[in-house]
This record gives sequence, C-alpha cells and structure tokens, in this order.
Amino acid sequence: MKVLVVGATGLLGSEVCAKLVANGHTVRAVVRPTSDPARAGPLQSLGVERVTADLKDGESLQRACRGEDAVVSTASSTFSRQPGDSIETVDRDGLKNLIDAARREPINRFVLTSFSGQIEEPSPLRDAKRGAERHLKESGLEFTVLRPSFFMEVWLSPAVGFDVANSNATIYGPGTRKISWISYRNVADFAVAALTKPSARNRVIELGGPQPLSPLEVVAAFEKETGHKFDLKHVSEADLRRQHATAPDSLQKSFAALMLSYAGGDEVPMTDLLREFPVELKSVGVYAHEVTSASPRKGS
Ligand SMILES: NC(=O)c1ccc[n+]([C@@H]2O[C@H](COP(=O)([O-])OP(=O)(O)OC[C@H]3O[C@@H](n4cnc5c(N)ncnc54)[C@H](OP(=O)(O)O)[C@@H]3O)[C@@H](O)[C@H]2O)c1
Repeated sequence: MKVLVVGATGLLGSEVCAKLVANGHTVRAVVRPTSDPARAGPLQSLGVERVTADLKDGESLQRACRGEDAVVSTASSTFSRQPGDSIETVDRDGLKNLIDAARREPINRFVLTSFSGQIEEPSPLRDAKRGAERHLKESGLEFTVLRPSFFMEVWLSPAVGFDVANSNATIYGPGTRKISWISYRNVADFAVAALTKPSARNRVIELGGPQPLSPLEVVAAFEKETGHKFDLKHVSEADLRRQHATAPDSLQKSFAALMLSYAGGDEVPMTDLLREFPVELKSVGVYAHEVTSASPRKGS
C-alpha cells in the first residue's frame, strides 16, 4: 500500500514510518523546510520518499496526497515553535484541509490520531480533535480514529516534570486515579494494523497500555527500579482549575485541560481489543527499566 504519513518527523509519526516500511508498505512522508533535520534525515535512510507540505497549505496537501492509497496523520501543533502554527491553524483547520485533500483523491483509508475519549476537559485542543474526528466521519472516506491515552514517553518524562535522573516528579492532582499509560510505539503498531484490518474500518478505537496505574503507583515502580525515593511536588486540582480558567492562550488552556484530565484518571480496558489486534503492549515497569538503564541517577 502507498501510504502518506503526515506528522512523520514527530515522535509517533517517525515510528509509524519505520513500522510501515518494515511491513512492506511504500511510504511518503510530509516534511517541512523547518522540520528538525535530526528527525527528517533518518526518514531518507529508511527509504521513505519525502514530500514538502504544510497543513496550513491546502495545495501542498493535494500534491502530497496524489497517487497515495492511504493517509496516516499523527500531526499536532502542540510542540511546534513555527510561526503561524497554532491549535486553530493546524489541529483544527489544518487537519480538515488534509481530510478535504484526501477525499478528492481515490484514497482508501484515513487513519487519524486523536486522543482518549475520556480527555474531555473543554479546551481548544479537545475541540480541534473532536472536530477533526467529525469531519473525517462525514467525509465519506473509510476511516479509523485512534484515541490513545497518555504516552508514557511524554508524560513520564522531564518535559512534564517527571525527572528520573534527579529522582523527582511533579504530580498533577492527587495522583491516585489510574491512567492507562501507553507507549507511542504501541500506538504506531495499531496505526499500521488499522490500515489493512477490515474490522478497523469506520471505527473509533480507544487505546491504552496493559495496566492502568495511578501516578503514585508509577512513582513507586520507578523508586523500586532505581532504588531511590522520589521527591514529589503536587499541583492541586484547584490550582489546575485556576490555570485553566485564566490561561492567556489556546495552548496553555489546552495543557491545563490535559493536566486536569490526567488528574481525573483515564482507564482504558484493552482485553477485548487485544483479542482482535494482538499487539504486545509495553508496561510502565518495562519503560521504567529502560529509562533507568539509560539515565543513571545524577550524583550517584
Ligand atoms: N503525547 C501524548 O501523550 C498523546 C496522547 C494522545 C494522543 N496524542 C497525539 O498523538 C499525535 C502524535 O504526537 P507526537 O508526540 O508524535 O507529536 P510531535 O512529536 O509533536 O509531532 C508533531 C508532528 O506534527 C507535524 N506538524 C506540526 N505542524 C504542522 C504543520 N503545520 N504542517 C505539517 N506538519 C505539522 C510536525 O512536523 P514538523 O517537524 O515539521 O514541525 C511533527 O511531525 C498527536 O496528534 C498528539 O495530539 C499524544
């Protein structure tokens, strides 16, 4: 299958490209002149065709879609520093541009990465994700919407205050409600499977990891793995609500909403889905072992 990947220079998209190639698909990856060369370069060595396009530019998307059989989108502006990229221009309007471009071509399948159906705190990102899902469902394209829970590699990383090397962690809310942390690598497994699996056609699929764990249970797993007690900083739900109410822009409002959703928990039952899609899900315990081996504690 000839597959266009939009978001190919991102964490999930680059993994999707690698797995598509490994499964014998022909991949065309969207890059931008501003994409990080450390992410765009390896795509070439994978044997992936690179096409320059931008979700804000409908004509570039039309050219990118031409001749393809399927589209996988993992794109989001949330970590973009590019002028002009925003939740409104990329996650809301840009994804609709891509869906519109795809429907004008004989594209067989469109796989869209959204987020968990339980991440429902109101925010511009939530509205953009659900809007893109609706637009895709109404497009007439055969679709799969993937709704993963929180990625362990992002939400259990220093980027959000989970700092294993220094044995400290920021916990949003009480830390007692369980989340089905999922590896982005497993999301890529589902994205690749969804392209060809008949039962994934016109379906919204909620995705989580193998075992829901509360943030405090995650900390305990890392303490056991590292042998060091963690210093914890709690951000209360009241503070998160205040941040959410007073956020100065869409991005900060959306991050505050994500943290409130984290505080509220996100358990995703996976048993039935795994019977259909035999994906080997990575656990937080395995992730803790990998992280600890890769970054020994500072000062020890
Ligand atoms: N992190 C989580 O816990 C989580 C949970 C559930 C769902 N998700 C969703 O999973 C998806 C993948 O996340 P990720 O961590 O892989 O994201 P990421 O690493 O930030 O990658 C984002 C990608 O989007 C591309 N992009 C941004 N603006 C664009 C534009 N205007 N035109 C074309 N491409 C553009 C980026 O390209 P450049 O390199 O050119 O900027 C990059 O390839 C996202 O949709 C995210 O919302 C994430």
